[in-house]
Amino acid sequence: MYKVFIENREVNFRNKQEELNAEHVIYVNSNCSFENELVGLIRETPEDKIVTLVCDSKEELWNNLVKSCKFIQAAGGIVQCENEYLFIERNGMWDIPKGKLESGESIEVAAQREIEEECGISGLEINHKICSTYHTYFFKNKWCLKETHWFHFDYSGSKKTVCQQEEGITKASWFTKNEFVEIESRTFQSIRFVLKSFQETIENSSEIDRAIQLLNQGECIAIPTETVYGLAANALSTQAVAKIFTLKNRPQTNPLIVHCGTIEQVKEFVSEFPPMARKLANQFWPGPLTLLLPKNDKIPYQITAGSDRVGVRVPNHPLTLELLQKLTFPVAAPSANKYGSISPTRAEHVKIQFGDQVPLILDGGECAVGIESTIVGFEGDKVIVYRLGQITVEQIERVCLTTVYVQNEAGEIIVAPGMVKHHYAPKTTLKIVGDFAQIELTDQTGIILFNEKMISGIPAENQLILCEKNDLEEASRKLYDAFYQLDKLNLAVIYMKEFPSYGIGKSLNDRIHRAGLKG
Ligand code: TXA
Ligand code: MG
Repeated sequence: MYKVFIENREVNFRNKQEELNAEHVIYVNSNCSFENELVGLIRETPEDKIVTLVCDSKEELWNNLVKSCKFIQAAGGIVQCENEYLFIERNGMWDIPKGKLESGESIEVAAQREIEEECGISGLEINHKICSTYHTYFFKNKWCLKETHWFHFDYSGSKKTVCQQEEGITKASWFTKNEFVEIESRTFQSIRFVLKSFQETIENSSEIDRAIQLLNQGECIAIPTETVYGLAANALSTQAVAKIFTLKNRPQTNPLIVHCGTIEQVKEFVSEFPPMARKLANQFWPGPLTLLLPKNDKIPYQITAGSDRVGVRVPNHPLTLELLQKLTFPVAAPSANKYGSISPTRAEHVKIQFGDQVPLILDGGECAVGIESTIVGFEGDKVIVYRLGQITVEQIERVCLTTVYVQNEAGEIIVAPGMVKHHYAPKTTLKIVGDFAQIELTDQTGIILFNEKMISGIPAENQLILCEKNDLEEASRKLYDAFYQLDKLNLAVIYMKEFPSYGIGKSLNDRIHRAGLKG
């Protein structure tokens, strides 16, 4: 069991966030758990700023990290605390972005001023620069490297001080794998962990190249997103988009979501980006949110099923983000399942749905969210949620500072046809019950449990427990996989109970009720 402490530097790195235009900056420090090459506890970090991730393997740890952050900084150094120095460490690194320098001030003087202020000491003197080392960053799906300078200070009171100093990400440079290996030999051991992950990224890149080639040729491929896998094609090519509808058996009246690599790219395809939508995009993209915005002429009506609004989203999956950022067009992508059936949350689910009908399934592992994105639209000042997802109504209200309406039942006009009642369904009949005590127990009965113990009288292999603790996010990740697994057993019926009705639990209940209704 590996344990990692990640500090979300929303407070300390505010300047850097602005500089990077990133919402979350997660800093991974290697200072403490150096021996096992994993990241360690950051000292002096307030408890509420530390996110704890507990993982069974380094791979899992890495996947979780990459999925959860837009920007990772992996410190390449361990600080030697020599006895004669007082080491002042503020969360591992002294960060003085260029913007903080007063006019005409050198970085050394700025560092001195900062440390004196923060530590409440005076008379600090810079002695000399000790060395330069390197820090690696994972930002916008690329690794980059930044030179970091360490300074040696004399504190003229009684003790001496060594402090790290860095110059800001403006000096970062992109680098190749070979350059990285060379740098690694010059710098610290802890980078090996990062290097391993970097190699994995390299291995994936040949698959991304294939994906680009196929999409350029107008093919339809399966891509991972953080919500569910999508069936993707060039959104600007009516022929490519037509293939999506055919493969899925999807009615032409059901519009498709357009996926982009950045907010800037989204702006190229909408005629308006109202302030409220902008706020939501800044807060939640890349992430499991689809916005319905007025389309411009570049988006064919075929995508929107004749509507003047287009569904747009920037998904948060490293492979797909890299893919989207390398393409010269956005991709239309509905969930990669036959019309009406369960969305896939693993590459193997796509295989079950389409076999060899798609030339490539880009395997990005298990989807981190596991249910489809929250869909939000606007009518004048009114903010409306058309499909519930991981991002909750409450979260949207906190950003929009207004009441948010939920309109996810199909009325006279189906605004988002995902509202149609019977949807997201396994092949096996699904029944939602209040209590398992009432159900008929046979060898043909399947049960999906949230976090309860298995019940007796039904074979254990027919029962799936979604999570051990009261963890709705985990249940969300596992729900569709449970449908796929039980479908393989050809049972007569699957029973489940409602989830606790808060947070994503409400969205899960929405899905199971739609899945549970037949015809
Ligand atoms: O999480 C997701 O959104 C996934 C991944 C692949 O991004 N995609 C997804 O797409 O769930 P799909 O097509 O399975 O569901 C999209 C829903 C449909 O109910 C569709 O009718 C609605 O969004 N939708 C898309 N564009 C729309 C538009 N212009 N106006 C109204 N509804 C729209
Ligand atoms: Mg779908």
